[in-house]
Amino acid sequence: MTYIIDGNELADSIRADLEDSVETLTDEDITPGLATVLMSDDPASETYVSMKQKACEEIGMESFHVEIDPEAPAEELYDTIEDLNEDPEVHGILVQLPVPDHVDEERVLNEIDPMKDVDGFHPENVGRMVTGNARFKPCTPHGVIKMIEDAGVDTEGKDVTVVGRSNIVGKPVANLLMQKTDNGNATVTVCHSRTQNLEEKTKNADIVIAAAGVPEMIDGSMLSEGQTVIDVGTNRVDGELVGDVEFESAKDVVDAISPVPGGVGPMTITMLLYNTVKAAGLQND
Ligand code: GUN
Repeated sequence: MTYIIDGNELADSIRADLEDSVETLTDEDITPGLATVLMSDDPASETYVSMKQKACEEIGMESFHVEIDPEAPAEELYDTIEDLNEDPEVHGILVQLPVPDHVDEERVLNEIDPMKDVDGFHPENVGRMVTGNARFKPCTPHGVIKMIEDAGVDTEGKDVTVVGRSNIVGKPVANLLMQKTDNGNATVTVCHSRTQNLEEKTKNADIVIAAAGVPEMIDGSMLSEGQTVIDVGTNRVDGELVGDVEFESAKDVVDAISPVPGGVGPMTITMLLYNTVKAAGLQND
């Protein structure tokens, strides 16, 4: 029987522990607070941000939200970040990406106080993660690693193929998995749009992480028995959410697989809550 990695169930168990940590901090008069900033009218971004706010409230955290007209000058976003950096009730800041073309994304990531950078995208935090001294692990990669663990798979010495090289998922997850840590010590291959013989790389891996953003690009014929597959894809096709893996054909081949929806999505949000609780603790030290 193929093990279906249930992201909702795993997220719920981690959130129950986080709720206890929030209660402990609240008893010390520190209620962890997350500020979300949305400068977009993309319905998917609006949905993601409201899910993040709701998740905060469900475990007793504070949630603050700033919406900026996507046509407004970029300065408005930079100024908002500056205000949130100074606000003692805000422990974590998340600017939903992508930002409009006239906004400099690199500057946005640089403006966020690294101690409040719960996405882990600030260059200081990226540098710390790459050198094995992470302050905030990026949420989706961290969630993916928790899911591999949930499937009972030890990554040590395993061959992992990551499909996709984004700064948000592909690069950081590859990096974390190769580190000399409990959930690392893997041999990682990173594939992308210029990779030759992709099928050979996916078929020969022990673990496949699909994070290319191409709907159902990996099917059962590109996979093999005994594998664990984590599908990070969140593609909208005719209004429906579909992954990068064709679930139906893949699930008959592999040992364990995460579905879309109900896989990585809830775990990303959970690790964001985790980072915000951690940020509140660090800012109180
Ligand atoms: N857009 C898509 N994924 C993410 C994410 O993990 N963080 C932020 N801030 N924006 C995103």
